[in-house]
Amino acid sequence: MTETLAQRRVLLVIGGGIAAYKALDLIRRLRERGASVCPVLTAGAQEFVTPLAAAALAGERAHTDLFDRASEAEIGHIKLARQADAVVVAPATANLMARMAGGHAADLATTVLLATTLPILIAPAMNVQMWAHPATRRNRAVLEGDGVRIVGPNAGRMAEPESGPGRMAEPNEIADALERMLGQQAGERPLAGRRVLVTSGPTHEPIDPVRYIANRSSGRQGHAIAAAAAAAGATVTLVSGPVALPDPPGVAVVRVETARQMLEAVEAALPADIAVFAAAVADWRPEQEAGSKKIKKDGTGPAPMPLVENPDILATIARLPMGRPPLVVGFAAETDTVVEHARAKIARKGCDLIVANDVSAEGGVMGGADNTVHLIRRDGAVETWPRLGKDEVARRLVAHVAGLLAG
Ligand code: C5P
Repeated sequence: MTETLAQRRVLLVIGGGIAAYKALDLIRRLRERGASVCPVLTAGAQEFVTPLAAAALAGERAHTDLFDRASEAEIGHIKLARQADAVVVAPATANLMARMAGGHAADLATTVLLATTLPILIAPAMNVQMWAHPATRRNRAVLEGDGVRIVGPNAGRMAEPESGPGRMAEPNEIADALERMLGQQAGERPLAGRRVLVTSGPTHEPIDPVRYIANRSSGRQGHAIAAAAAAAGATVTLVSGPVALPDPPGVAVVRVETARQMLEAVEAALPADIAVFAAAVADWRPEQEAGSKKIKKDGTGPAPMPLVENPDILATIARLPMGRPPLVVGFAAETDTVVEHARAKIARKGCDLIVANDVSAEGGVMGGADNTVHLIRRDGAVETWPRLGKDEVARRLVAHVAGLLAG
């Protein structure tokens, strides 16, 4: 596991916007990664979420008032600004950004932000027009000039009918950005200077102009690995089949449809120090190249669709006589005897490590958020991880391969 957030203390300033509810989830995500969280809520934030909810999730008291006698006696706002490793502001409203840029100290949140010397990460969230307004742009430039890091906002649907940039980054994106910020500070970038290639998603194999063969892969695991590798400092190329996911931050994404295109893109992305093949590549494609006309049924029986095997991208790269990445990692999606199948696969494919998971319907892994994986090495050694979020699997995997490469 990347240790960036383990044992770290985060002062979380929650601003007053509808995205404040996502700040509660952020507390959970940060704690999952081993951080402790000290919540500070602005008056506006308390219109959307309660200090009690923040405190319950943080497992410690939430702070709200500058002139809170109990809190001042206990700790004091200046100490609050010191006794952490980083400050995160989420959501950072237009108003809060303006007050930060102007150096205001009118309430606890802004006083702490002014008094702190800790690294600050803000996750803006506001109406599209407010984000685009010259005043906000100025404030943002001032904050960046002061060394404040910014994550998001993302484009997409918001509370209002308008859409565009303004949506707060997702809790895991904020946690990733915080890891990057702290990691850079501590020099914890185990993959700095390394090139990492990741495949992700399904492939689509066209039958005719309107139909294709595909599978249920969402690309979540592969995309999470690309993001985690980038967070660990690597230069990452992600070759992705058709997915409905945003591009991971700081990653070069090459989009493809078919297995053959994926192989071509992978070859073009070499050389790499590490290649992780997380894509669920279609094993077969229709023998007949899809033409421009839809195939018609004629009521006479079996479908006129012989299949041929697709190239095995993992095996092709793992067996390259020249230019093979020093570390080649495959995935094995199995529905039974997961480890045995994976052991056989590692030999057959020629890779160094297989990440095997059970994709039988009961597990809900395909398309789901969690994964239970086994790591199988070429010498047959097996490491089994508990059921984890796909982001956490990605972080652990990246830490693991970084260790293998270094050692
Ligand atoms: O053979 P199987 O599909 O079970 O192997 C899974 C592993 O091989 C995955 O890492 C997958 O990305 C890779 N693979 C590939 N090209 C294929 C089939 C699988 O790269 N045509």
